[in-house]
Amino acid sequence: MAAARCQPVDQTPVWFMRQAGRCLPEYRAMRQQHSFMDMATTPELAAEATLLPVDLLGVDAAVLFADIMLPLASLGVPFEIRPGVGPVIPAPIRTREDIARLEIRPAKEATPYVMQALGILRERLGDRTALLGFAGAPFTLACYLIEGKPSREFPRAKAMLYGEPELWHALMERLTAVTVDYLLAQVIAGADAVQLFDSWLGLLDLDTFRHAVLPYTQRIFAVVNPHAPTIHFSTGTDTLLEDIGQSGCHVVSLDWRTRISSAQSRLPEQVAIQGNLDPTLMLAPWPVIERAAGSLLNQARNRPGYIFNLGHGIIPETDPAKLAKLVTLVHHAT
Ligand code: CP3
Repeated sequence: MAAARCQPVDQTPVWFMRQAGRCLPEYRAMRQQHSFMDMATTPELAAEATLLPVDLLGVDAAVLFADIMLPLASLGVPFEIRPGVGPVIPAPIRTREDIARLEIRPAKEATPYVMQALGILRERLGDRTALLGFAGAPFTLACYLIEGKPSREFPRAKAMLYGEPELWHALMERLTAVTVDYLLAQVIAGADAVQLFDSWLGLLDLDTFRHAVLPYTQRIFAVVNPHAPTIHFSTGTDTLLEDIGQSGCHVVSLDWRTRISSAQSRLPEQVAIQGNLDPTLMLAPWPVIERAAGSLLNQARNRPGYIFNLGHGIIPETDPAKLAKLVTLVHHAT
């Protein structure tokens, strides 16, 4: 939490995106018994999955076991999470009528299990580690809502953005309202900080980002910031970095394509940096990982406000023992 606020720390904090997921045999064992949605919507199970990597890897933050799609319950939009595929929306949102039909139900009512899981975690964690909540960013949620399924290019979503700007902005307005409410509810329920996942932002050029997305991102951080530190995450967005630095977030999470030292000179001094080891590097022999991590830590030494992480989520083939070793390395080296 100190690192997120660019304050001095005893040692560099470290956590991993997707740390509660499929690389842990203990998680896979839970999934033998329960579907993903059962786990995410049952507070006791979600809390248990959240705590697995805290105990097994020694990370400094617990990240709630949930998914970016859960707040679609607030909009009244049914969805599925298909194993090996990702989010699927049987009735995608594509017309004026589709958008007008969207509900905006309070997060506390639509997703009570998320807040209950955070409450359980707050109690169990005490001050052992930070507790992170998260949400999908409006742009990334809009991509799934319009496309209806995962895609490389999200052509239908971008077609609405470019061709029907009025519909695009109406959808983004609703998604922004739902996201703000969802994040604030998580902070009230016990989250110390929250991360906004804009996973597909790299699909956009700078000018489009500025007019079609950034104003909504800024609005979210402006409302949430007084209550908890905020982290902005995206991938493939090196060309947008200076503008992301103006979004109002406390922390910018970088993917592996941007050098930490480059980000340091391109982001305001009061913005902390999180990242950014290439997740596939974890499949390499230990000395390769050690060298890459050392390089990140060396660059990060130049200024306060650094949180060690991967540049994107852990890939399922990763050996958890290497992750645990990496946590120890980061702590000892700093
Ligand atoms: O550490 C954690 O695992 C925290 C929980 C978490 C999940 N999803 C659990 C999950 C978080 C932070 C997410 C975010 C998420 N979900 C994002 C943003 C981050 C990113 O990767 O860019 C996105 C785009 C999604 C959408 C989504 N949900 C995808 C692409 C998938 C994978 C589908 C697959 O099986 O390949 C999911 C499902 C999902 N979410 C799983 C987990 C652990 C796997 C479900 C399973 O166990 O079958």
